[in-house]
Amino acid sequence: MDAILSIVYISALFLLLASSTIAQPVVFDITNYGGAPNGDLTLSLERAWKAACTSASASKVLVPRNTYNLRQIELNGPCKAPIELQIEGNIAAPENPNQFDGDSQWISFGYIDSFTLSGGATFDGQGSTAWKQNNCHQTWNCKKLSMNFGFSFMNNSIIRDTTSKHSKHFHVNVLGCRNITFSKFSIEAPAESPNTDGIHIGRSTLVKILDSNIRTGDDCISLGDGSKQVSVENVTCGPGHGISVGSLGKYENEEPVEGLIVKNCTFKNTDNGVRIKTWPGTLIKISVSQLRFENLVMINVTNPIIIDQEYCPWNQCSKQTPSKVQISRVSFKNIRGTSTTKEGIILICSSSVPCEKVKLTNIDLKFNGTPTIATCKNIKPQVFGNVPTCTP
Ligand SMILES: *[C@@H]1O[C@H](CO)[C@@H](O)[C@H](O)[C@H]1NC(C)=O
Ligand SMILES: *[C@@H]1O[C@H](CO)[C@@H](O)[C@H](O)[C@H]1NC(C)=O
Ligand SMILES: *[C@@H]1O[C@H](CO)[C@@H](O)[C@H](O)[C@H]1NC(C)=O
Ligand SMILES: *[C@@H]1O[C@H](CO)[C@@H](O)[C@H](O)[C@H]1NC(C)=O
Ligand SMILES: *[C@@H]1O[C@H](CO)[C@@H](O)[C@H](O)[C@H]1NC(C)=O
Repeated sequence: MDAILSIVYISALFLLLASSTIAQPVVFDITNYGGAPNGDLTLSLERAWKAACTSASASKVLVPRNTYNLRQIELNGPCKAPIELQIEGNIAAPENPNQFDGDSQWISFGYIDSFTLSGGATFDGQGSTAWKQNNCHQTWNCKKLSMNFGFSFMNNSIIRDTTSKHSKHFHVNVLGCRNITFSKFSIEAPAESPNTDGIHIGRSTLVKILDSNIRTGDDCISLGDGSKQVSVENVTCGPGHGISVGSLGKYENEEPVEGLIVKNCTFKNTDNGVRIKTWPGTLIKISVSQLRFENLVMINVTNPIIIDQEYCPWNQCSKQTPSKVQISRVSFKNIRGTSTTKEGIILICSSSVPCEKVKLTNIDLKFNGTPTIATCKNIKPQVFGNVPTCTP
């Protein structure tokens, strides 16, 4: 009896020990790979990453709290087991844009399954020199500047407790990912910094952006073609250009956008609140469907709700041929606050493929204390509750 009991106890103890060792990742501290405070982190991070990525059990690359410089770096998988990069402190990019390959990313992650970025670091792209060289508002063929982060072909990954600051171009590009979550991810750049979009998503499924604060010079979050099942919750945008689906319909090989929920978000001093924009004058037909925008607060926003199917900055296209992007199943619900223009709602749909199944429910937007109006074209929205009447 005693012997059996002790076998039970010993095996229980063994199981407990085994499970606690499995739960603890193997730590690869960059200080053991030549990393030093106030130094250049590039080589030591590359070496520690390589070692961690080949670890047969879960690993963690640790960059202890300090200040470091970091040159352009690519951290790729596939790795043998889940991998976490815990970076604490402040990381600075080279200020000179010429130290980067043109259209690229400062820190790019690719082809990793079960990746976590954590640690509370601030990544400073030192963009102010680059912003002065940005001529994209003058010429289409403009100088390419680097983004702070690229996440490409990543699965089941989490980016949390991290700040991206003063990126030279977009802050984050998400491409070809499946199941990636940004949580408590802050973005900071001045309102006047050009093309500093917050998070741009393309060709990705199951993307979540939660509990984050995005202050920047361009779109807060933008969804390019092939974005599917995206949710944005408890995000504050502003300054910047708000949350945007598109622009779409410019290129031949675009994929549909399907499934977006924007919930419990606040927009402060942004040019747009929520926007869908498509180019006229293109030939391809693609669809944008199943978008829900609800429980949103607009504070001093220029265009709180806008669908623009005649999007054509700098007259780069012909407005003669209408957009072929079909927008359907879009709901705007419980949206309140203030607009800096009297048109709180602008819904300009395509004459060739009018918007279908667009619902408006309880929209309470004020301009100088009076209710705003709604301008509509090629659309007959279904309205519920208190919503301004559409005028052409
Ligand atoms: C991510 O998932 C897709 C299938 O959904 C798979 O083809 C791809 O190899 C995965 N990538 C990685 C890095 O595991
Ligand atoms: C998404 O990835 C997270 C983190 O790896 C994981 O916990 C979760 O189960 C995944 N969800 C889906 C639907 O695959
Ligand atoms: C919303 O996000 C902020 C961080 O930006 C967080 O402090 C807060 O707890 C979140 N609110 C909810 C209800 O999750
Ligand atoms: C979203 O907002 C609603 C109403 O303002 C609130 O009841 C709910 O708890 C919020 N949800 C989250 C996840 O913040
Ligand atoms: C409201 O937005 C306008 C720009 O559209 C800006 O000039 C003004 O300062 C903002 N007001 C407040 C109170 O932030």
